[in-house]
Amino acid sequence: MTLAEEIVLLLQLRIGFNPDSVGHEKVLASVQAYLKSQTIKDPAHFLDGLRRGNKAFQDVVDSVVVPETWFFRDGEPFELVKRFVSEWNPAAKGRTMRCLSVPCATGEEPYSIAMTLLDYGLPPARIAVDAVDICPLLLQRAKKGVYGAYSFRSADLSYRDRYFERRGEQYLLSKLVRERVNFEHGNLLNPLLMHDGRQYDLIFCRNLLIYFDPPAWKAALKALHRLLSDAGLLVVGHAEMLDLASPDFESVRYPNGFAYRKRRTPLPSSKSARAATPRRTQRAAEQPAALRAPARPTRPARLSAPAKPAKKQEAAASPPVPGAAPDLKEAGRLADQGRLDEAETICASALAANPGSAGAHYLMGLIKEAGGHPRQAEINYQRALYLDSKHHDAMIHLALILEGRGDASGAETLRKRAARVRPSA
Ligand SMILES: C[S@@+](CC[C@H](N)C(=O)[O-])C[C@H]1O[C@@H](n2cnc3c(N)ncnc32)[C@H](O)[C@@H]1O
Repeated sequence: MTLAEEIVLLLQLRIGFNPDSVGHEKVLASVQAYLKSQTIKDPAHFLDGLRRGNKAFQDVVDSVVVPETWFFRDGEPFELVKRFVSEWNPAAKGRTMRCLSVPCATGEEPYSIAMTLLDYGLPPARIAVDAVDICPLLLQRAKKGVYGAYSFRSADLSYRDRYFERRGEQYLLSKLVRERVNFEHGNLLNPLLMHDGRQYDLIFCRNLLIYFDPPAWKAALKALHRLLSDAGLLVVGHAEMLDLASPDFESVRYPNGFAYRKRRTPLPSSKSARAATPRRTQRAAEQPAALRAPARPTRPARLSAPAKPAKKQEAAASPPVPGAAPDLKEAGRLADQGRLDEAETICASALAANPGSAGAHYLMGLIKEAGGHPRQAEINYQRALYLDSKHHDAMIHLALILEGRGDASGAETLRKRAARVRPSA
């Protein structure tokens, strides 16, 4: 095993990062680039230092994490917060609402929670948001509270006028909001994380579980269960909702979507045994009816919108293997003819060869959707969007799926976002 491969494995063990979630080759390339920038005389000694969690380990983590985030990301979760606080407040008898955002990246999410609670009218002194991330560099930026245009991607920007002051091309967040949030460095997989008995009324854990392998996923759910109060609410990302069938959590339906709380009624034993295994197919069966049977969205007539040109980094990470590269265009053509199984086989090989291909995830989403599997399609569209945040067609299809299951505001947000980027050629 090469040094870079050893390091990728170490990352998987320590921070739960499943390299396949974004493309093994891509992660390996990032680690190799990092190693090139170092003078390493003794690889065994270097690896030893990493295992002990030295500064170099943190640098490697910084080189692979995905810090993508923006204010009021996805819209709907913050509607849930409004709803939740209006139910929580009357019974709270003046208590402080304790919230946790993990991972918080550069802080847009915890600050959005604080702004939502301020907008609701909770007195500032009753809002306490802890925000945790594994990457100290991101936390440093978060604490400054200075943001550029890329952090303001939601359709409604009225909060920016209320809580930010313009400084040239950037925006400084008001002290009122900044003081509500306390940033801490931490790893969700560290069993000692916040092990002082504290519990939260509201936890946001979004866009992290999708990068975890099953053991890390289980460890993360255990930590979240420990940190959530008995009446607390756990909010995860769209794609992660499918992942959260667990004997420990149950879904709570809200008019704008759903979240989770600690399970109050035990699962029947057979179901519980199934649910304890984090397999996507089993997880889907645990979801509320609204998700299990969404109305079929209307798809554009042509199934195989041509695969988008690969992003620069994809191409660099995974050069095509001459004569052996699975042909996505062929997969699209087969899908158009309704030969979904054959299309899926080719697309699956393309993804196995290059899991960081947004085009392949998008096409797989189309195939799954056409095959009547919107939940699986949703995961693929989410991954396509994660890999290429401007993938117009993935946004449109995802919007249709959200609409199909009654999430009008989520769909609307995606449509507006899609309108801001050019459609794929
Ligand atoms: C895509 S961002 C998500 C930010 C925010 N929750 C959102 O949805 O916009 C993922 C973040 O997870 C952090 N991260 C990765 N592994 C982690 C771990 N084991 N514990 C805590 N944070 C982690 C990364 O540093 C990165 O900032």
